[in-house]
Amino acid sequence: MKKVLVNLKMYQTSKEEVEKYINDLKGENVILFPSFIYLEKYIENGFICGAQNISTNCVGAYTSEISVKSLKDLNVKYVLIGHSEVRKNFNEKEEDINLKIKKALEYGLTPVLCVGETLEEYNNQKTKEVIKEKLIKDLDNIKGKVIISYEPIWAIGTGKIPKKEEIENIVKYIKTLTHQEVLYGGSVSLDNIENLNQIDVDGFLIGKAGLDVSCLKKIIEVVSR
Ligand code: PGA
Repeated sequence: MKKVLVNLKMYQTSKEEVEKYINDLKGENVILFPSFIYLEKYIENGFICGAQNISTNCVGAYTSEISVKSLKDLNVKYVLIGHSEVRKNFNEKEEDINLKIKKALEYGLTPVLCVGETLEEYNNQKTKEVIKEKLIKDLDNIKGKVIISYEPIWAIGTGKIPKKEEIENIVKYIKTLTHQEVLYGGSVSLDNIENLNQIDVDGFLIGKAGLDVSCLKKIIEVVSR
C-alpha cells in the first residue's frame, strides 16, 4: 500500500490541539512528523512518527540542535531531510544533508529526503537536471534505504501542482536514478488526490491538508484503495 506521511510543520502549538488531533486520528495508517516537542505524545499514543530535521552532530555543545540519538531513544522511525523550508530558512547545504542522511541511517532511522525544483527551474525545463544534481550530492556514498520525496518547491503550500504526466515522469526518473521508494509532496489535497493516486508512486507527503482530520481520513481512504 502507498504510504501517507503528514508533515505537521509548526502548525500545532498547544497541548489541547494535539490531544484532539490524536483522539480524532487514532488507528489510521499514517506516518506523522509533528513538532519535536509533541513527538513523545504521538508515539505514546501509538503513532509511527518521524522528526522534521536532525543535527549533523550526535552529542555535544550544539545549542538548540536535536540529536538523532535522542530521536532513536524516543522510538522515532523516520526523519525528514532537506525539506525546502529547512534548506531555505536554515541555509542547509547539500553536504549537511548528506551528513544527516548518514547519521539517520547509522542509528536505524529511515531518512525521507525531499528534492524539488524552483518555479524558475521548472519554467526553464531544468527539473531533471536540478534534481539529479541534488541527488548526486545528497546521496554521495550512501548505502541503505532512503525514501525520496519529489517536492516541487513552487507547489509547496501554493495549491499549484505539476501536471500528472510531469509528476509521473519525474518520479520514474528519480526511481531510475536511485532505485529507492519515491513519494510526491506539494499541495496534495482532497481535490487532487484521486488524480494523483493514479500515478505509480510509493506514497504522498502531505502538509496543510493533513491538519484537518476529516480531510486527512478521506485522503487516506482514497490512497488505500
Ligand atoms: P503542503 O506541504 O502539502 O502544505 O504543500 C507539503 C510539504 O511541505 O511537504
